[in-house]
Amino acid sequence: MSTPVPPPTRTTAIIDLDLPGATISRHVYGHFAEHLGRCIYGGFWVGEDSPVPHVRGIRSDVVAALRDLQIPNLRWPGGCFADDYHWRDGIGPRDQRPRMVNSHWGDVVEDNAFGTHEFMDLCELLGADPYVSGNVGSGSVAEMSDWVEYLTRADDSPMAALRRANGRDEPWRVPFWGVGNEAWGCGGNLRAEQFASLARQYATYARDHGGNGLYRIAAGANESDLHWTETLMRSFDDLAADPAEPARPFQAVSLHYYTMSGSWGDKGDATGFSTDEWYTTMARARRIEELLTRHSTVMDRYDPHRKVGLVVDEWGTWWNVEKGTNPGFLYQQNTLRDALVASVHLDAFHRHAERVVMANIAQTVNVLQAMVLTDPDTGALVLTPTYHVFAMNRGHHDAAALAVHLRGVQTRTVDGRELPLVSASASVKGDAALVSLSNLDAESDRTLVLDLRGRDVVGHEARVLTAPALDAHNTPEQPDSVAPATHHGVRPHARGLEVDLPAHSYVTVRLDLR
Ligand code: AHR
Repeated sequence: MSTPVPPPTRTTAIIDLDLPGATISRHVYGHFAEHLGRCIYGGFWVGEDSPVPHVRGIRSDVVAALRDLQIPNLRWPGGCFADDYHWRDGIGPRDQRPRMVNSHWGDVVEDNAFGTHEFMDLCELLGADPYVSGNVGSGSVAEMSDWVEYLTRADDSPMAALRRANGRDEPWRVPFWGVGNEAWGCGGNLRAEQFASLARQYATYARDHGGNGLYRIAAGANESDLHWTETLMRSFDDLAADPAEPARPFQAVSLHYYTMSGSWGDKGDATGFSTDEWYTTMARARRIEELLTRHSTVMDRYDPHRKVGLVVDEWGTWWNVEKGTNPGFLYQQNTLRDALVASVHLDAFHRHAERVVMANIAQTVNVLQAMVLTDPDTGALVLTPTYHVFAMNRGHHDAAALAVHLRGVQTRTVDGRELPLVSASASVKGDAALVSLSNLDAESDRTLVLDLRGRDVVGHEARVLTAPALDAHNTPEQPDSVAPATHHGVRPHARGLEVDLPAHSYVTVRLDLR
C-alpha cells in the first residue's frame, strides 16, 4: 500500500553539460521478437499471399513504424522458444518445412514459415542488427556451430553451400549471438555451475568466420540472482593467458527483469488499475536501478575494467492477458503507465552506460510491452505509448551520458520504501543535449528547474507525453489518445530553464548548445 506525501515543491536537476560520461549505446534501444502469439505470425509476418501490404511476406506498416524508431537490433527467435528451436526446420522451400509444437506459447503448431532467411530479410528491411539466440537447452554444440557457419561464412564450406542452395549467395553480418536463454528455467532448468560450463563450450564453437566477429551473450540471471552472474563471471578465470586481457569465450552476460503490479499468478491488469497499482508499478520499475547496480558490482569484482557487457535482453511490463485472448499469447494493452515504466528503465540504462551495452524490451509487436499492436481482424496498426517514449529518446542513441543531480525530489512511501517521484537522465552529442524527465506522480503537477552548467544554451525545444487517464491507451478508433505534443511549459530561469511536469507525464527537452 502507498501513502500520500505533502503537496509538491520545487525540484532541481543540476547538469554539467561539459562533463560527458560513457557513451549510451544505441543498442540499449534494442527489441525482441519471439515465436509467441501474434508477434511473428500476424505481427511481422503475414506471408506472401496476404492482402495486407507487405514486402516478401513482411508487413510494410510494421517495418515503417520501426524504421522511424531507428531500432538498432532485433533479438530472435526467443525467449523460451529459442531453446526448442532447430534452425534447419526453418530453411528451404516453405511448403517442405517440418512442423513443430510451440510448447511454451499456446501449445500451437508452428509451421516454420518464418525462419532464418525471413528473419535476416526482416533485419535488412528494418536496418537493424540481428541478435540470434542459439539453442543450448535442447540443441547440440554442432547445431549451433553450423548455424553460425550457415549465416556468416563466405566460401564453399558445407553450410555456406547449403545457404547458397537456399538462394542466398553472400553471407550475412551477424554481430550478436545469444548462448541459451533463461537456462535457470525454460532453457533447461540448469544450475548456474552447470550452465557456466555449457556456455563456455557452446560459445567456443560459435566461431568468427571471415570478418564476422560475434559478440556472444551468455544467458544470464533472473532479477536479483547474483549467484548466477557471479558464477558466469568466475567461469573464465582459468582461461586467462594474460591476466590483463583474459580470453573469454563469451563477451557479455544477460539479465532479465519484468515489471508487474501483482504476482506471477495474478500480474495485474493492463488497464482499469487503481492509483495504488500505479505507484506499485513505478516502484517496481525503479527496482531496475538497484538490480543494475548490484549485478554490476559483482561483475566489477571479476572485470574491473568493464570489458564484459551486461545485456538486459528481456525487460518490460507483464500484465494479465486481455480478456478473451489466448493465455499463451501474452497479448496485453499498453498505456501511459507502460510509457513511464519504459522511461524509468531507459534512464537507468543511460546511468549505467559503462556496463549496460545492450537491452531488448519484450516484445516488439502484439506481445507484452509492445511498440505496435495490430488488429487480428482488420489488420489496423496502432503505435503504443511505449513507442512514443522510444521515439522521443532517439537523441540518446550513441550520445554521451550526462549525470543528472536531482535535488528536492519528493518521495512517496510504497510498500515500506521511498519512491522518488521524478526520474531523469540526460546526454550530449556535439552541440545538442537531450534531457528526459518523468513525473511519476499520479496526481500532482510539479515544476522542475534545470540548472544547466558548463556550456551556453542557445535554444530549446520540449515535447510532452501525457493524457488525462492513467490507463489512457491508443486504439484503431483513437490512435492518438496518448501521443507526444509540443510542450509549451518551459521558461527561461536564472539557472537555466524552468520546466512544468504535468502529473503522470514524460517530457523531453532538447537543448541547443554553444
Ligand atoms: O518474453 C516472454 C518470455 O519471458 C520469454 O520467452 C522468456 O525468456 C521469459 O520468461
